[in-house]
Amino acid sequence: MDHLLNTYARLPVAFTHGQGVWLWDEAGRVYLDALAGIAVNGLGHAHPRLVRAIADQAGQLIHTSNIYRVLRQEQLAERLCRIAGMDGVFFCNSGAEANEAAIKLARLYGHQRGIEMPALIVMERAWHGRTIATLSATGSRKAQAGFEPLVSGFVRVPYNDLDAVATVAERNPNVVAVLLEPIQGEGGIHVADHAYQRGLKQLCEERQWLYMVDEVQ
Ligand SMILES: Cc1ncc(COP(=O)(O)O)c(C=O)c1O
Repeated sequence: MDHLLNTYARLPVAFTHGQGVWLWDEAGRVYLDALAGIAVNGLGHAHPRLVRAIADQAGQLIHTSNIYRVLRQEQLAERLCRIAGMDGVFFCNSGAEANEAAIKLARLYGHQRGIEMPALIVMERAWHGRTIATLSATGSRKAQAGFEPLVSGFVRVPYNDLDAVATVAERNPNVVAVLLEPIQGEGGIHVADHAYQRGLKQLCEERQWLYMVDEVQ
């Protein structure tokens, strides 16, 4: 601990191994893992097929960079697109990086439409990550405090409030995209109504805005 930067308030427990939904700490105590790495360990701990796949890959190739084709990456992209009904995949290392890419894509899209200062609509209590742009998109003053100046180009509206988005649409010609968590996690559990999501999607189509969904958590 002494040599770790003081960035997280950690609980005084350390796990040595896990199996499925179970975790063992240094003293051998067993815990039910109801947190699952903040909702990302969908396959649990030490799943034999996952362990084998990781070990096999590490024994073949560790990393070759984006300078070359990566065949397994192409296969996975094709499969994800087939399942999700989407056209393309960008692989990255974290949720924050995925949102950085989405923010950059939205800005690029804006510039292609001749908008010099593109803006994104983001939500109150949103969480999009801790990098400087995603922190700016995040709706937590506590997380932002001390890291100003934040990145500009975000317009914040209340969650689940279509009228608020429509008002921004009337007033701000620079908007190019909406970034939405269909279910907010870090900001408390808030679920976007179906009618709200449908209305937002329709507004995006009418205004030629990108409808960007953060389902990281
Ligand atoms: C909705 C949402 N987006 C983005 C992130 C950031 O993901 P990461 O911690 O992998 O950068 C989180 C993390 O909690 C999240 O809940």
